[in-house]
Amino acid sequence: MILADRISHVHYAIRDIVLEAQRIESSGKEMTYLNIGDPCRYGYYPPKHITDSIIQAFRENKWHGYAPSGGDPELRKAIADNENINKDDVFITSGLSEGIDFLFQALLNPGDNFLLPSPGYPLYNTKNDIYEGTHNYYECNENYEPDVEDIRNKINDRTKAIVVINPNNPTGKVYSYKTLKGIADLAGEHNIPIIADEVYDKLVFDDEFHSMTEFRDVKVIRGNSLSKVFLYPGARVGYLSFHGDGMDNIKSAIQKLCNARLSINWEIQRGAIAAYTQPYDLEPLLKKFKEQRDLAYKYIKESDVLDTVKPEGAFYMFIKVNGKWKDDKDFIINLMKDKGIVTVPGSGFSPVMKGVYFRIVYLPPVETLKNAMEKIIDFAESKN
Ligand SMILES: Cc1ncc(COP(=O)(O)O)c(C=O)c1O
Repeated sequence: MILADRISHVHYAIRDIVLEAQRIESSGKEMTYLNIGDPCRYGYYPPKHITDSIIQAFRENKWHGYAPSGGDPELRKAIADNENINKDDVFITSGLSEGIDFLFQALLNPGDNFLLPSPGYPLYNTKNDIYEGTHNYYECNENYEPDVEDIRNKINDRTKAIVVINPNNPTGKVYSYKTLKGIADLAGEHNIPIIADEVYDKLVFDDEFHSMTEFRDVKVIRGNSLSKVFLYPGARVGYLSFHGDGMDNIKSAIQKLCNARLSINWEIQRGAIAAYTQPYDLEPLLKKFKEQRDLAYKYIKESDVLDTVKPEGAFYMFIKVNGKWKDDKDFIINLMKDKGIVTVPGSGFSPVMKGVYFRIVYLPPVETLKNAMEKIIDFAESKN
């Protein structure tokens, strides 16, 4: 069969690496997977009030049909109330992933660009290639904070949106108010919408988190989901919310795209109502994540060849390797073969970033994490 050209652009660094890991594993090597941002893989589970509401919805015989395409009205209202907007400004999607896809479909013609973060979540890079956007990546400084001047220099007349992922995947950086304001001012000046991916908004350890939606006079399309904060990636419930004036056409476009795929599973949306209306004490979870972060960070700081910036949110660490490696794949593939530790190469998060980087997820149980960190350090130092 002759496939469509676009298929050659479909890469997803985080999962692509698993094939190689499984190949090595099949030879009998024990592997530790630090590559996937799924808390359920590491013994964390969604809060009971959410799963109870889903179970109840399954029993009620009221929610087995197609849901309204834009989402369950009560769920849209619950999210809208939290964000001080109208229910019609919220669209429920199959995880935020589908929302991201819809934004590319609705806004990007071939040759246009979304100004994307380097490094950033790989799905944006993949969608950009699939929808034939030109590459336009803004850099971060050595502290993993976006470089506002670089954004200013890279906005051009085909820039359709600026994507801001905060807290960031892969760095775990929580952006300062000053940086966010700098980006918001630029977006306002050029009348470009900001796509604010805030899926990790409540997983913040040290600094205060500021949402892009605080900047009232800019067009902000916010994305969020149950996957991270509510530890429920398998729910596949996320949303886009629209903040600011002058976005009626994009909202209609998103509604059309929602209509064309009929609906999101209704029972799970009923559970999501509980997520956005009932109390949820995140403190114990944050305490645990912070301990894990501190543990992984201590190992990296003690190493002579690895370096990182302490993550302030999410559950990732983006690590720089100073050594004689050909590239990041050379490092992570040999790390897998030698030590059985599965990570993600930095180039998966940015096609333009220089240097050898890799990302880990630091959520495994303490003993597993310690063991993995020791192996990573040992490997990096022995081959240096
Ligand atoms: C920054 C970011 N945005 C979006 C997503 C997609 O999340 P969802 O499970 O809601 O599709 C992820 C998943 O890892 C992510 O890290």
